[in-house]
Amino acid sequence: MKTFVTMGRGGAGKTSFVALMTKFLIASAKTPLLLVDADPDQNLAEMTGIDIQSEGKNTIAELLSETFISRGGTTVGIAPSARIENTIWERGLYEGEYFDFLSVGTKWIEGCYCLPDAALKKALGTITRNYQFILIDSPGGLEHLNRKIASSVDMIFDIMGPSSKSFQHVKRAHRIIREVGITFDQFYVIGGYAFPDELGERAATETGLPYLGKIANDDMVAEYVLSGRSLINIPDTSLAYQSVTKILDRIIND
Ligand SMILES: Nc1ncnc2c1ncn2[C@@H]1O[C@H](COP(=O)(O)OP(=O)(O)O)[C@@H](O)[C@H]1O
Ligand SMILES: [Mg+2]
Repeated sequence: MKTFVTMGRGGAGKTSFVALMTKFLIASAKTPLLLVDADPDQNLAEMTGIDIQSEGKNTIAELLSETFISRGGTTVGIAPSARIENTIWERGLYEGEYFDFLSVGTKWIEGCYCLPDAALKKALGTITRNYQFILIDSPGGLEHLNRKIASSVDMIFDIMGPSSKSFQHVKRAHRIIREVGITFDQFYVIGGYAFPDELGERAATETGLPYLGKIANDDMVAEYVLSGRSLINIPDTSLAYQSVTKILDRIIND
């Protein structure tokens, strides 16, 4: 089981990358997968063709809120993550043919995602199903790193946007991840769809990290996202999908 975390600034193309990576892994028969949407924006379900609500599934934040607030439970004196664990697998996990899905969600005490993050971390630690890959779509900011949704991951992908702030984002992310003690095998830099091609070399030299290439700017992706269609169903000829395939072929081989 390998865990991949995708990060980057808002709008860089994280979620669409995770969705296209899901399509690639399904096509490569590297299933089952677990998709985890850790971004309060919660776009991953739609981009992978799932309607969490109509599936009757709840976000981790909703389950926490229900268990500890609506039912008058207390968060004092008991590790909430331990109590919530089973509930997450029973009522939070969407189970599909090729991939399962968990959403962290937003409904909790405003401004504090610590509890859902802690609950997710605990739950991920108890996975018994033999997923081949866990794909985590993480929020744009870097604050969440302090809360360590996962403390040990295999690969981190930082998707770069078109601004010079993206260079700083990569460097800061790389530093903070090591500072908070998240262990990882590889930290890769990827050019997002709006990242200027010619800056690829600079991305590698300036960050000191391996640059895997750029995700193609693809009107078809924009159209699919706009109309709420699943990127898993995008044609194989999609330029963005082909570039993601090329990127992943370089690093996923066995
Ligand atoms: N490969 C692409 N080509 C063209 N537009 C894209 C591509 N990927 C994403 N987009 C557009 O950019 C927007 C942001 O992408 P998204 O993946 O949601 O970024 P993030 O998750 O980093 O905020 C999407 O709504 C979509 O319209
Ligand atoms: Mg996103």
